[in-house]
Amino acid sequence: MANVAMLGAGFIGDFYTFSIHGQRNRDRVKVIYSRDEKRGEAFAKKHGIPRWTTSMKDAVNDPDVDVVMIGLPNNLHLEAVKLAASAKKAVFCTKPLGRNAAEAKKMLDMVEKAGVTHGYMEDLVYTPKTLKALKSVETGAVGEVIWARSRETHPGPHSDWFWTKGISGGGVLLDMGCHCIEISRNYIGKDIRPVEVMCWADTLVKPIEAEDNALGWVKYENGAIGQFEVSWSFRGGMDLRDEVMGTEGTIWVNNFLRTGFEMFTAGGKKGYVAEKAETEKGWLFPVGDEVVELGYTDMLTDMFNAYDSKTQPKETFYDGYVVNEIMDACYRSAKSRRWEPVKLKVWRGKEKSEKINALKDYDKDHLLVKEERMPDGSVKLILKNKKTGVITQKRM
Ligand SMILES: NC(=O)c1ccc[n+]([C@@H]2O[C@H](COP(=O)([O-])OP(=O)(O)OC[C@H]3O[C@@H](n4cnc5c(N)ncnc54)[C@H](O)[C@@H]3O)[C@@H](O)[C@H]2O)c1
Repeated sequence: MANVAMLGAGFIGDFYTFSIHGQRNRDRVKVIYSRDEKRGEAFAKKHGIPRWTTSMKDAVNDPDVDVVMIGLPNNLHLEAVKLAASAKKAVFCTKPLGRNAAEAKKMLDMVEKAGVTHGYMEDLVYTPKTLKALKSVETGAVGEVIWARSRETHPGPHSDWFWTKGISGGGVLLDMGCHCIEISRNYIGKDIRPVEVMCWADTLVKPIEAEDNALGWVKYENGAIGQFEVSWSFRGGMDLRDEVMGTEGTIWVNNFLRTGFEMFTAGGKKGYVAEKAETEKGWLFPVGDEVVELGYTDMLTDMFNAYDSKTQPKETFYDGYVVNEIMDACYRSAKSRRWEPVKLKVWRGKEKSEKINALKDYDKDHLLVKEERMPDGSVKLILKNKKTGVITQKRM
């Protein structure tokens, strides 16, 4: 059981509080920090929170508080983590952990030195669909993962600070690339070292300094590729999709736009449909329970359970740091237009990962390349001679 100081009364503070009070209701938000007193008070009344304050320090040091949750703009994460670590309180921080890897590393060092539970709140690796898909990958249902693609696109964020590079630290690559990179990393294996990246990023549509569109590839030591596609200028809502290609199987996950709930309204719904929905009229794609479907519920259950048992959750500040290092390399690559190395200062996974090997023997002299039933009913085998390397075909 934990008492929480929620830092930030904005969009994500709301989602986190709904999630805590809605499910694990033995955990409670006891104090809300907002720089604007009226906003803090309104947030407290809405969620049944007993105290509000305009002092981040007072919220963190509130004697009743065990866990500090950070839902503030990116430029304030470091300051908030510093306060929580000095107070020796457990701390869960939203994504991205830092505006760059140097900030993230400082935060990682602080929480580890303080010896507290630390959670990197990457909700999208906890969506019910993703958790089930990851379990299937773990049990070997798709063989070895060779490619994991993750896409997050929407028409752009909801607050001024996201669009201001000095505050946010970057554009869509930082804001949403962090989700996609961590999703692919989970599918490929968090113990496999990300070695190099290739990234394209550009400002195509919006009048901003940072990039509003980006694509990239993260190469892992075993040869697997994590691909991300992110946009702040996509029209039509919020598109969250993942694809996993394994040597023995495939997974497609659609987390948001097309979840099986479709609705048509001629007159208009007149109210909230789903995050970043662009229309309230015509065909709509609402989402049953966003707090659950976006992974907040399972994520916070894992994080509060870790707090209770004095362990660490599945996603820690170390993961946040790795993601920031990958993104720093992506920014270098977008500039240099070359593959750039991922310069991890701390690596806690496998020292060496072998290349993916899915070769199959057909008989003692041949490897099986491919088997296919043809329209005439026969089965065609494509074989490779192990000694000569010659490829032949055989009909059965
Ligand atoms: N899926 C997710 O995990 C997810 C989704 C959205 C946002 N986020 C992250 O959450 C964080 C906050 O984003 P948001 O969407 O809630 O933003 P928001 O703009 O909706 O809310 C931010 C809050 O911080 C306050 N704030 C702004 N500047 C401040 C300052 N200088 N000092 C103190 N308070 C200040 C604002 O008034 C607001 O209450 C960001 O790091 C963002 O990346 C995560």
